[in-house]
Amino acid sequence: MRVPIMRPFLFVTDLDNTLVGDDAALLKLNQQLASHRQQYSSKIVYATGRSLYLYRLLAEAKSLIPPDALITSVGTEMYFDRDHKQHDPEWANILSQGWNRQEITAIASQFSELQSQPKSEQNPFKISYYLAQAVAKQTIASLTSALSEKGYDIKLIYSAGQDLDLLPKNGDKGLAVQFLRQKWDFSASTTIVCGDSGNDISMFKGQEKGLIVSNAKDELLQWYEANKNDSLYLAQSACAGGILEGLKHFDFL
Ligand code: GLC
Ligand code: MG
Repeated sequence: MRVPIMRPFLFVTDLDNTLVGDDAALLKLNQQLASHRQQYSSKIVYATGRSLYLYRLLAEAKSLIPPDALITSVGTEMYFDRDHKQHDPEWANILSQGWNRQEITAIASQFSELQSQPKSEQNPFKISYYLAQAVAKQTIASLTSALSEKGYDIKLIYSAGQDLDLLPKNGDKGLAVQFLRQKWDFSASTTIVCGDSGNDISMFKGQEKGLIVSNAKDELLQWYEANKNDSLYLAQSACAGGILEGLKHFDFL
């Protein structure tokens, strides 16, 4: 018989189409997570592609329990304070290595396939565009070589068949999770990460338990097919229902 672990775990989840998307399942999951946090001091972290501005809009519309840390903008900002007033300066310092926003933007501006996302979704360590799926592969390859010709080794992350994020080499959701694990001293086996799309793949590359919701996007499902292992679980249910399923599968709940 499987026995749930009666000790703290680190729970990290993406928001759109992972935690959020099935309101009834979200309420059930919220209750179980809140009570585990109270009983065992588990930690709850949201890791979203949204800026803080868009996160706040979502938090007003949906019942999200307050996280212990908030990772926004695809891992380029991290907040520990309840009001999210100050993003972590130590993390910003790590991101700044090998990054020059102005020069990287100038190189990307030569690609007419790229259309800038709204200003709210740009920040000092994130440059975001819309890019049509039909031309994505080729554009990403050409942009990568144009950047490396100028000496830039950065991250190009394509999500949901429409969004392209340019991020520092040291910054993505997965690296942000590693930073938190070390800070709070959680082992990989007591950490679970949950996601549905391309910007979540970096979280699934480590040794942590990884939960992929059934409604995951093509780019993540393809990655999963090529990288299956015992630490990864593809749920049969969507969104928060899939998370509940995964927490049971890995004996966290
Ligand atoms: C969110 C962000 C957007 C980003 C996308 C994928 O939608 O608002 O800027 O490109 O996630 O990471
Ligand atoms: Mg998502």
